[in-house]
Amino acid sequence: MPYTTYQIIHLIGLAAIAIGTGGMMANGNNRKIFAIWQGVGLLVVLIAGFGMLAKGHLGFPHFAIVKTILWVLVAALPVILRKLKAPLSAAIPVWLALVGILAWLGVTKPVLW
Ligand code: HEM
Repeated sequence: MPYTTYQIIHLIGLAAIAIGTGGMMANGNNRKIFAIWQGVGLLVVLIAGFGMLAKGHLGFPHFAIVKTILWVLVAALPVILRKLKAPLSAAIPVWLALVGILAWLGVTKPVLW
């Protein structure tokens, strides 16, 4: 598969995470369905992420190590925010900021240490 295909799949995964996480944060009906889509999205993002690293012969650079750690945080965030009883007005910007950091890491591929 071409690199660009992995890129697009990575972004579809991100969209699935957004839908899933949003639905879980809404605390309404169909929580389980949203949780499943969050999980599917996380898996897709992870596979496409490592697919890009392999296709681009990038190894496992700093930015990817940090992204993998933050991936765990993205996965756990709905549960953490629920436990903390964080209001949506805080939870949504926190999630968006996290995605912003993940996007920055991917786009700029910084050398961090
Ligand atoms: C929930 C976790 C993640 C989110 C929200 C996320 C999001 C993004 C976004 C928005 C971009 C920029 C779009 C693009 O250039 O394709 C990007 C790029 C990238 N991500 Fe992720 N990412 C996540 C996890 C990962 C993981 C775990 C890896 C691999 C270890 C990874 C590897 C990459 C790479 C290699 C790029 C650069 C693509 C390019 O060359 O343009 N990402 N990511």
